[in-house]
Amino acid sequence: MTPRTVRHKEEAASYGSYLALDELLALQRPLSEPEHPDELLFIVVHQASELWFKVILHELDALVTAFDAADVAAAMMVAKRLNALVRIVADQLSALDTLPPQRFAQFRGYLGSSSGSQSAQFRAIEAASGLRDPHFLQAIAEHGPPPAVVQRWLERPTLQSLFERLLEKSGRTIEQVYGDSAPSELFLLAEELLEYEQGFARWRFLHVQLVERIIGPGTTGTGGTLGARYLARTVSQRFFPVLWDVRSRFFGAPPGAR
Ligand code: HEM
Repeated sequence: MTPRTVRHKEEAASYGSYLALDELLALQRPLSEPEHPDELLFIVVHQASELWFKVILHELDALVTAFDAADVAAAMMVAKRLNALVRIVADQLSALDTLPPQRFAQFRGYLGSSSGSQSAQFRAIEAASGLRDPHFLQAIAEHGPPPAVVQRWLERPTLQSLFERLLEKSGRTIEQVYGDSAPSELFLLAEELLEYEQGFARWRFLHVQLVERIIGPGTTGTGGTLGARYLARTVSQRFFPVLWDVRSRFFGAPPGAR
């Protein structure tokens, strides 16, 4: 790009055009008739979550690149950002805690069979992070062949195996990293990854509580699952089992028994 075209682009851009605000703000389309006053909030929290999911997937790509290059500092920077993003997505669920059950019931029927369980980006994040168990693969298959964004991540190694490769390249094992008396960069990175998993589980926990609060613990979801009972089972899913194992192996036994 020549300096002239750069200047031209700068002149043409305004806040609204740069952010495509006309398009963005036209994308909230409540279905209830007459429009329910709470449906806008319901839509915006979901749309905002999907936007953050997009950034999370973008950063997961950056994390894979850093792992491949065995660049611990870069991986650390990305992992910290990922953790900030996951916290934001979890915290914004609280906006829907203000939606009373009887008011949600007034427009729930308009949602038909649409459900968060059809979120391709959410499944892609789970796939990228490392879920491969039969329950997860079945949840994906329920809606036909996996969307491209999910398939792409399913074909790549899990974060855990990429991290293990990084350790190998650094000539260390996870036991050594946790056995060191002084925390190393690799140890701090491992802890940041554990925090990522914990942050994701926190989203699951806050979401299941929201669901229990708004539709009750025994109501089935619009996506056809057992609702909160199904969701509660997902809270304990692990992305980094080795990081939990090392704790049991090193620190679970009484002193002297290791
Ligand atoms: C009124 C608020 C909400 C209710 C009542 C609700 C309800 C549910 C229910 C019952 C399920 C289980 C699947 C089903 O049968 O439908 C589910 C799954 C899901 N929801 Fe929500 N949800 C709410 C808000 C949100 C928000 C704001 C998001 C953000 C994107 C979201 C994302 C998801 C995702 C990703 C799943 C799949 C989780 C999994 O399979 O592990 N939900 N939701």
